[in-house]
Amino acid sequence: MGIIKISDLSHVRFTAPDLQEMRAFLEQFGLTPIPSGDGVLYARGAGPGPFLHATAVGEPGFAALGLRAETVQDLAVLARAEHADIEDLHAPGGGKVVRMRDPDGRLVEVVAGQTPADLLPLEPESPHNSAAARPRIGKPLRLRPGPASVVRLGHCVLEVADFRAAEAWYKSRFGFITSDEIEAAPGLAMGAFLRCDRGDTPTDHHTLALMQSPRAPSFNHAAFEVAGLDDLMRGHAHLKKAGRQAAWGVGRHILGSQIFDYWKDPWGHELEHWTDGDLFVAADGSNTSPLLDVLDVQWGPAHPMLAGAPGGRP
Ligand SMILES: [Fe+2]
Repeated sequence: MGIIKISDLSHVRFTAPDLQEMRAFLEQFGLTPIPSGDGVLYARGAGPGPFLHATAVGEPGFAALGLRAETVQDLAVLARAEHADIEDLHAPGGGKVVRMRDPDGRLVEVVAGQTPADLLPLEPESPHNSAAARPRIGKPLRLRPGPASVVRLGHCVLEVADFRAAEAWYKSRFGFITSDEIEAAPGLAMGAFLRCDRGDTPTDHHTLALMQSPRAPSFNHAAFEVAGLDDLMRGHAHLKKAGRQAAWGVGRHILGSQIFDYWKDPWGHELEHWTDGDLFVAADGSNTSPLLDVLDVQWGPAHPMLAGAPGGRP
């Protein structure tokens, strides 16, 4: 289902009053700023995405969600169906964009035809010895201190006023498949983790999550895949040493199974580092899960909301 099938997220846009302060945070978070002459701060990861994060000067806030269409032809199909224009994308990598508003009034930018960025070198993760397998022989494990290496933008979680309305809007246009629908009580859906429909190509358990919330329309968090576990932990130590504000982690999620680590930018927008997430194909189907499975963990601290609740876990 869907007018088109998007293949991934492409970027997230924010506004903030101080681009230098945002730049300092992003560098400590493990993104690489890109020189640009248009007054917008763009930042990339080590992967082929020309930019993953963009900030324009303004009051602090979330400004847009970027989705990647497979082809410019797909954009044309979408533009026709939506009676929208295809515009040039004036940003690193160029390409084309169709701009739309979701049911909460949020700007959604669907892009295609970007020139991929040259990959930045990644240090290979050292093999990890376990009791069952000991692949690292005669070679000490030594990590450079410093920021994590963000590779790509993995997912975004949005707080929406009406879950069913938002779900229908995103699914009917972009072909999302439910991985886990979240229930506040049996039979009472309040959100969902959605993955891309890429047929037999494995894709992240969630690329977009929609959660009904009284704060809607609100940005919950954007999540960036890092090189691996040692890289994530190195990044944690680096952000902590820099005095940045941790939000939740390090732990392993239940839904999606990622190892996660959440931080706040200087204006309180949550950005996540993650690694080792679940991958599914279209035929893997859909599940229903209780809200507890979103907030609880397989290991690590439970969500602060749960930890602070009566009877909640420490
Ligand atoms: Fe996340």
